[in-house]
Amino acid sequence: MIIKSATFVVSNTKVSALPEPNIPEYAFIGRSNVGKSSLINNLVGQNGLAKTSQKPGKTQLINHFLINEKWYIVDLPGYGYAKVSKTSREKWEKFIRAYLTKRKNLQCVFVLIDSRLEPQKIDLDFCCWLGECGIPFALIYTKADKQSAVKTDQNVAKFHKSLMTWFEEIPPFFITSAEKGLGREKVLAFIHDINEQFVMPIIDRPDQHHTPNP
Ligand code: GTP
Ligand code: MG
Repeated sequence: MIIKSATFVVSNTKVSALPEPNIPEYAFIGRSNVGKSSLINNLVGQNGLAKTSQKPGKTQLINHFLINEKWYIVDLPGYGYAKVSKTSREKWEKFIRAYLTKRKNLQCVFVLIDSRLEPQKIDLDFCCWLGECGIPFALIYTKADKQSAVKTDQNVAKFHKSLMTWFEEIPPFFITSAEKGLGREKVLAFIHDINEQFVMPIIDRPDQHHTPNP
């Protein structure tokens, strides 16, 4: 897929204030600092569109980006950042879970996993929660440029083995590097295929409900 345009739309802390869910949407989530914002920038070919940082916890809001005027990318705050208070972690969970379970146009959640690490419980738990909720997801292994392909493959195989304790089949997965552009075309082709099949969700607008004439 060719990216012709990518623009920032809005940042939100409230699920009720999100843009109209009338086009396909893809959310990027994963541990803090895993490389979500960097990957988004690489996918759309615009450094600096999503804000990145060496310090974890940079992305704090639900950020919508409009791509090719036809679909949304959503950059979400990372989970598992140790330096946040229990209260703000709980607030994060409630807010993100509400977003992920209620968003009608959400086509796929990309769960980003650091390809350099052994399977992390927090990532496995998150995948299981998505599975239990019936939310479609795909895995994106990040930062593959930081080690040999053999090491990446070993970690990927270990994560899949752990996942198979709960899942019957491995979800779609991609090995990527935002630095080198590895995996970019495959992720975009995957999104393109889903976009082609998008059916407009039924949008419930309580203010427009009317009672039929007697
Ligand atoms: P939060 O918003 O804080 O949750 O982080 P994030 O997941 O959005 O991570 P971000 O994209 O800000 O990247 C974190 C750090 O990892 C930055 O220093 C990036 O330059 C670096 N990084 C991200 N992706 C890659 C990659 O593919 N290769 C390499 N070498 N570095 C990467
Ligand atoms: Mg970020």
